[in-house]
Amino acid sequence: MKSNIALIGFMGTGKSEIGRVLAGKLGWRFVEVDQLVEEMAGKTITEIFRQDGEITFREMEIEATRRVSQGIEQVISCGGGIVLNKINTDRLKDTSRMVYLIASPRTILERTSKDSAERPLLDVPDPAQRIRELLKSRRPFYEQTADIIIDTSKLSSEAAADHIINRLKEDESFDLRKQSDR
Ligand code: S3P
Repeated sequence: MKSNIALIGFMGTGKSEIGRVLAGKLGWRFVEVDQLVEEMAGKTITEIFRQDGEITFREMEIEATRRVSQGIEQVISCGGGIVLNKINTDRLKDTSRMVYLIASPRTILERTSKDSAERPLLDVPDPAQRIRELLKSRRPFYEQTADIIIDTSKLSSEAAADHIINRLKEDESFDLRKQSDR
């Protein structure tokens, strides 16, 4: 039985903000895979990329995803690159409805430019070009994994969370109530 919601999508599509609001509305736990990785490593994502490299980060992301996939009644905010390793999406899909958040490249650039130092992959001379390239190569992976797709470009976090709840209510095989209320 699937009893988590996993938010996937590119950086800057609103996974963290929307995830927090959604978890609040459902009374579920909010979990960020990136935060778990930082706790495991005892350092920030940027430090892991700089000191240990992306491959080490991806290995830690696999372990964090394995742990988080075992829980129930969680809204899981996934790092943008989680779909690059099939083991992650296989594990998440076992216990979670997969909600793919999208936004226009322009919206993504606007949102991520505020904290580019926290996003090592976009800390480059031409982030707009990097966003276009990464989106192109990753889009097929996100689409293959998604159960539901929501465009967040023009939605507040509140409205996006309501949208997700309404879409999941249409899904008879997914129960949004807490187990204790069933
Ligand atoms: C990454 C996205 C980041 C973080 C890391 C790598 C990616 O998470 O996991 O910097 O590969 O797209 P957010 O999508 O939460 O910014």
